[in-house]
Amino acid sequence: MTVTDSPFLRACRREPVPHTPVWFMRQAGRSLPEYRKVREGIAMLDSCMRPDLVTEITLQPVRRHGVDAAILFSDIVVPLKAVGVELDIKPGVGPVVDQPIRSRADLNRLRPLEPDDVPYVTEAVGMLTAELGATPLIGFAGAPFTLASYLVEGGPSRHHEHTKAMMYGDPELWAELLDRLADITAAFLTVQIEAGARAVQLFDSWVGALSPADYRRAVLPASAKVLAAVAHHGVPRIHFGVGTGELLGALGEAGADVVGVDWRVPLDEAARRVGPGRALQGNLDPAVLFAPRRAVEEQANRVLQAAAGLEGHVFNLGHGVLPDTDPDALTRLVAYVHERTAR
Ligand code: CP3
Repeated sequence: MTVTDSPFLRACRREPVPHTPVWFMRQAGRSLPEYRKVREGIAMLDSCMRPDLVTEITLQPVRRHGVDAAILFSDIVVPLKAVGVELDIKPGVGPVVDQPIRSRADLNRLRPLEPDDVPYVTEAVGMLTAELGATPLIGFAGAPFTLASYLVEGGPSRHHEHTKAMMYGDPELWAELLDRLADITAAFLTVQIEAGARAVQLFDSWVGALSPADYRRAVLPASAKVLAAVAHHGVPRIHFGVGTGELLGALGEAGADVVGVDWRVPLDEAARRVGPGRALQGNLDPAVLFAPRRAVEEQANRVLQAAAGLEGHVFNLGHGVLPDTDPDALTRLVAYVHERTAR
């Protein structure tokens, strides 16, 4: 089998598969003791800039769980840091930005991203594609809205109030901010694709905070710009957000090949909302993995049953692996989905 024919890439292209492919958002990370060990004493953002560590951490879940794809170990704020935004990732908190972006003058701190700004990403992706063989590597970036939320709020936020204040109060400034972020994001994805990433995922984690009308008017154009900018490379583009039940139709319109769905909408209903011509990814509730094995299998079956009529299905969680998840439960889930769907 070549990487082009791997079950993951075939499912993204809505082609027949030997079994349903599985990977997990946040499959690399704190759920793995081997991850905690290599990260000891090294700050999150520093670890993202060391190709040897990025390679090791990216490979850990592939070795342990036998997942069908690897996802580059990095973070959505890495390209922002790379263009000079002063920020850090605080353990247990998330990205924190020294000076939030609130005015037109602040926009100048967001210059375009050049490949030379992220040499460690190019190097890590090259090392990884050599090691991974027939297992595809997924590159990723944060979508403009989710990046804007961190930049405008200055850190993680429940209500996104400053972000929305700009969106509603100064639509021109907002559009310019999202447009700059779209260009940075597209450039960051391009670096990963040109270095060997076989698919990309655009994480719009917090976009579920918007109504469909506001999403279509104020956010969709920037996300669509990112997706269109990398279309000619021919690698599948996955588009994911949390709490997007009401937005699935609009997410479909943004142009991705695969739409990621959280656990709140069954995949058959999600397919109706997204519309034809897209594969779906998802959507087991990450908290289900804390239940006994029999219950995990029952819930995984419900996902598989809802996905049975889809043209393309990539099995995943509805959001990232929770840090306290038992890694053996993940390994068992991969084997279970492979077994149940073997054809
Ligand atoms: O395995 C993978 O999925 C690849 C690695 C990955 C990380 N972050 C590593 C990470 C990916 C794809 C991301 C994306 C990311 N980062 C998103 C979108 C995905 C999502 O979960 O919705 C978001 C919103 C962020 C911002 C961010 N970075 C948060 C909210 C946190 C958690 C803070 C905490 O400590 O609870 C981070 C830090 C981060 N990124 C960690 C990891 C493994 C934890 C830091 C650590 O291990 O010390």
